[in-house]
Amino acid sequence: MDTKAKIIIEGKTYEYPIVTGTEGEKAIDISALRKDSGYITLDVGYANTGSCTSNITFLDGEKGILRYRGIPIEDLSDTASFVEICFLLIYGHLPTKIELEKYSEAFTKQSMIHEGMKSFFDGYPLTGHPMGILSAMIGSMAGYYPELIKPNPSKEEIDLISVELLSKVRTIAAFAYKKSIGEPYVYPRHDLKYVPNFLNMMFNSPTKPYEIKPVIVNALRTFLVLHADHEQNCSTSTVRLVGSGLANLFASVSAGVNALWGSLHGGANQAVIEMLQKIQTEGGDIKKYVDMAKDKNSKFRLMGFGHRVYKNYDPRAKILKSRADDLFRELNISDPLLDLAKKLEDIALKDSYFIERKLYPNVDFYSGIILRTIGIPLNMFPVMFAIGRMPGWIAHWKEMLEGAEVKIGRPRQIYTGNNVRKFIPIEQR
Ligand code: ACO
Repeated sequence: MDTKAKIIIEGKTYEYPIVTGTEGEKAIDISALRKDSGYITLDVGYANTGSCTSNITFLDGEKGILRYRGIPIEDLSDTASFVEICFLLIYGHLPTKIELEKYSEAFTKQSMIHEGMKSFFDGYPLTGHPMGILSAMIGSMAGYYPELIKPNPSKEEIDLISVELLSKVRTIAAFAYKKSIGEPYVYPRHDLKYVPNFLNMMFNSPTKPYEIKPVIVNALRTFLVLHADHEQNCSTSTVRLVGSGLANLFASVSAGVNALWGSLHGGANQAVIEMLQKIQTEGGDIKKYVDMAKDKNSKFRLMGFGHRVYKNYDPRAKILKSRADDLFRELNISDPLLDLAKKLEDIALKDSYFIERKLYPNVDFYSGIILRTIGIPLNMFPVMFAIGRMPGWIAHWKEMLEGAEVKIGRPRQIYTGNNVRKFIPIEQR
């Protein structure tokens, strides 16, 4: 097989190495193309551009495969704890019992936030979107914990800052929620594990003690595990890009949170529920919405459908759909929005528009239904995604920093503006 690719430009042939991944994916390393020929490649939205090599997550969108460090997501989603997944993604192997105990202890120790940060929360209006508060709070950790910010962090310093962020993010998220409903903050408890601790901080209140139900804990655990990494998506690429300029972890991840917020990315879980509620209040006319999504004159898209990489059923959506069924069965409840979502999926998957474009439900299609059942308010949905994605962002930041060479991310462009022209002073215009 050829190990070089040939590119012919203006009659001249240039040869570039072919890079092959461990799962057989192929790339042409064109990093010397501009130096050799004066040309760059143009790939708006980076749909065909590899920005790095990585050994964290494997994703085959055609076959619907997702693996963390080689382990299929289907195996991890059943019983692995979220803390175990954090370890796996960040360190590359499953922790031993002792490693996991030590790691969990570190999470417990770091769960409190700086008392000074509480006054920061108090400055926000009750209507402040928790995603905006989350990104600001993560960015501000650089100010509250300056001792963690190191110009060239050692392995131990990276470990420390990572655990601080992973543990404190759930406290920050729960405090942001408590602030938004005007209830007193509930501090983290050392006797509770990651997920029940978070649920307790979110929902316990002096007037109504919260009962931590294993079925709810399991549903949230599954949600977090399934969101933990997804290779070079918009927010992870943002974290890597910001980090490539040697920005600290808090600054890089705060940027990632903002990138995730958009409705084409992590904000889609909120948008799906809003869409389903709208269909329901308008009488349940699903076909009208499917037709609108197909109409190129309308800006409407079926939220929770389609994916840049998956051209098959998103494996995470498959698991979440069945977990939603389990959850309702175990709690002996129902949600008309789940029935509506299933009907919408059935209609869309039989429609030639969606079939031809290979548009399937993505992770956000069923996740919101689970979050709603847990009691998470709608505007906290993207925050839940961010908590889940935290280990992935950290693993990528760490992988880049510890790589052979950190290279600042700096794409080029093809300029299409004016050619050189004269400045005309204001009085002559
Ligand atoms: N509804 C209707 N049509 C769609 C949808 C949709 N949800 N998604 C894609 N299409 C159509 C496009 O109009 C386009 O049609 P065309 O070829 O006739 O022009 C074709 O499918 C390809 O779509 P692109 O926009 O080129 O695909 P891209 O890879 O750029 O976008 C994206 C992927 C942003 C996820 C898109 O499918 C979308 O907007 N989905 C809805 C939002 C959503 O659910 N986002 C969450 C994604 S998962 C995540 O980030 C966690």
